[in-house]
Amino acid sequence: MKVTFAGLELVSPVIAASGTFGYGIEFEEIVSLERLGGIVTKGISLEPMPGHASPRLVQTASGMLNAIGLQNVGVREYIEKKLPPMKRYPRCRVIVNVFGYTEDDYLGVIDRLNQAEGVAAYELNVSCPNVSAGGMAFGADCAALEHLVARAKPASTRPLIVKLSPNVTSIGQMARICAGAGADALSVANTFRAMAIDVETRQPRLSNITGGLSGPAIKPIAVRMVYEAAQAVSIPVLGMGGVVTPEDAVEFLLAGATAVQVGTASYADPRATERLARGLESWCRSHSVERVASLTGGLETPHPAGLPLESSQAG
Ligand SMILES: Cc1cc2nc3c(=O)[nH]c(=O)nc-3n(C[C@H](O)[C@H](O)[C@H](O)COP(=O)(O)O)c2cc1C
Repeated sequence: MKVTFAGLELVSPVIAASGTFGYGIEFEEIVSLERLGGIVTKGISLEPMPGHASPRLVQTASGMLNAIGLQNVGVREYIEKKLPPMKRYPRCRVIVNVFGYTEDDYLGVIDRLNQAEGVAAYELNVSCPNVSAGGMAFGADCAALEHLVARAKPASTRPLIVKLSPNVTSIGQMARICAGAGADALSVANTFRAMAIDVETRQPRLSNITGGLSGPAIKPIAVRMVYEAAQAVSIPVLGMGGVVTPEDAVEFLLAGATAVQVGTASYADPRATERLARGLESWCRSHSVERVASLTGGLETPHPAGLPLESSQAG
């Protein structure tokens, strides 16, 4: 079940996704953390953040909307209190999700994490508004994305994973920009901007009005994005968006992902990550797949590769 990317060896390609698994340690009594390839922490900022007022979560058809507002304890408390207990699970890699509202915010968090022990990699959440550029998300602005990654890479003493925003016209272009600026791997993708309205009260269902859609509702779009990103770059891609069953994970691997992250599924079943790690192993056994890594990019296309992606649209 081993997979390797960006110089990291994982015991399983199943990783808990940011924002759905606390700082990892909260799950120690319900999940065998050492069965997972790793956990990605909730997004960490330079200073603690209280997040948005409730309601912050809304169930939707086959998914969930969230606008948590990036609530977190801040990098200092994370390093002092949340990270040290994870040393009890050395096989479970700790990937720290990093965000900020300016480039310097990101670099400040990375600088402090560089001095901490027990972190395997950084995952940059670039779906945040760039306050120095009128609030457009870093991940939706080619120049801002390139500049941020080009500064973050030499500042990082650990592998740098960039988590792309799906709210863009061309995920392949964003993937190429990150790879060109030095990213070691990509996570594809974050939540899709979305909204729900209570028609009786005529009010938005989230206090923040809009939020991010996740869960099985986004899976086919996320699989397409992983496919396009993996076609566009040669650095590894971590796939996510609606993974619930082992077959879902295999779909992402065949599309080109080296590993998968599991988010919303943990809300329905807090043991979903471990269940998936075990389920994927059984799936490989029952399909005579000796090494899970051999599934990556195993998609067999009916038409010759290299066809412009846009031309393969239906409808
Ligand atoms: C409640 C919640 C909080 C999240 N917080 C973060 C976060 O802090 N940073 C981040 O990069 N992604 C965050 N995400 C996005 C997930 O990590 C993941 O990319 C997305 O939900 C798609 O995967 P899923 O369908 O398996 O949930 C969050 C998602 C949810 C549902």
